[in-house]
Amino acid sequence: MTAYTIRGARAADGEPVDLFVCNDVLVDEPAPNAELVEADGLLVLPGLVDLHTHLREPGLEDSETVASGTACAARGGYTAVFAMANTDPVTDSPERARHIAELGRQANNAEVFPVGSITVGLVGEQLSPIAEMAAAGVRLFSDDGRCLMDSALMRQALELAAETDTVIAQHSQDHLLAGPDACVDERSVAGRLGLTGWPWVAESTIIARDVQLSELTGGRLHICHITTAESVDVVRWAKARGVPVSAEVTPHHLLLDSSLLSGLDTTFKVNPPLRGAGDIEALRAGLADGTIDIVGTDHAPHAAAAKRAAFPAAKPGMLGLEQALASVIETMVNTGRMNWSDVVRVMSTVPAQIGRAGGHGRPLRPGQPANLVLVDPDRRSMVDRERSASASRNNPYHGMDLPDPIEATMWAGRWTYRRT
Ligand code: DOR
Ligand code: ZN
Repeated sequence: MTAYTIRGARAADGEPVDLFVCNDVLVDEPAPNAELVEADGLLVLPGLVDLHTHLREPGLEDSETVASGTACAARGGYTAVFAMANTDPVTDSPERARHIAELGRQANNAEVFPVGSITVGLVGEQLSPIAEMAAAGVRLFSDDGRCLMDSALMRQALELAAETDTVIAQHSQDHLLAGPDACVDERSVAGRLGLTGWPWVAESTIIARDVQLSELTGGRLHICHITTAESVDVVRWAKARGVPVSAEVTPHHLLLDSSLLSGLDTTFKVNPPLRGAGDIEALRAGLADGTIDIVGTDHAPHAAAAKRAAFPAAKPGMLGLEQALASVIETMVNTGRMNWSDVVRVMSTVPAQIGRAGGHGRPLRPGQPANLVLVDPDRRSMVDRERSASASRNNPYHGMDLPDPIEATMWAGRWTYRRT
């Protein structure tokens, strides 16, 4: 038996709490041989849940593996991650989904929920076996990295989502408006940098189409990484109509803006791109008022070689799991826009509800699984990309002075990370 008494912490609402862990659950009194953990000055929160993680295994293990990516998750306070389907091979069958979950169990750092692709091979032409994957336990389907452009297929996918009680997560980006050379935000920087832009309209027009398909079919739609003010407006409109839609913002789109691109450092290349100040303000306001439901990391490791290219040719994507809470503290808590209960809602409770990640995002009460994170709300440090569990080093926060909040993470009663 393993048992802990976590003493002297405060809950998200500021109330003092002592927590008693016995094996993998919270109990209502200390076990006789419980190890004492002093948590004075710390917050204790439910473990974080990420609906948008790229773990790269199978196929791109030099960028990340299930083991290294979930080690990042534990260091970032996460107890559950949803592994995006754009691996090689793509997660487009029940067998492949089961394999990802099994790799997660072997790594044993966090619970891994496989995301299934919406279309076979992410090609956008033929639906994956969504019903079979749903029967195998897949709760989220996404072609992330690419937008599912075909409206009729999107309608069918949402119909299947309604039938199977699953969710379609769309990377909203019209590939005809945002051509193959697009690599930075069109509105704020493309002209100045002499590069081809991703136009804002490529995102919100797809969202407008998809929320209407969601309304028509009753299928639940999740909008990955929204980045523009117009997208926030469309989601607000859809929610007012009662459409079953949820929206996500990434830690990097909350904190980082397109002025960072002036040196053409490919670390800052990401899809959708870093935007300008007006969009960032709309994202923060949308997260604070509930239009945007959750923070998802879009943790996207890339090996150095994939980033060591001319800007238009470099791979898009940046690391996210280890600094996600830091970004949310800096942009939302330290600015007074959200309190800690709001943070729990957008980083744990609601992502767990959307993905039906049973046992995660639960209140820290006796009888619940012992999935939790100890947080120092005031600690700060300079981010060093070398101090990372990732196999990659494309960390956009390197050298920044940021909150450094994660003291320890516990998944199913076991410490998956403790600050040393
Ligand atoms: O920047 C990105 N990187 N955006 C995506 O949608 C996919 C991701 C990746 O897989 O690298
Ligand atoms: Zn994406």
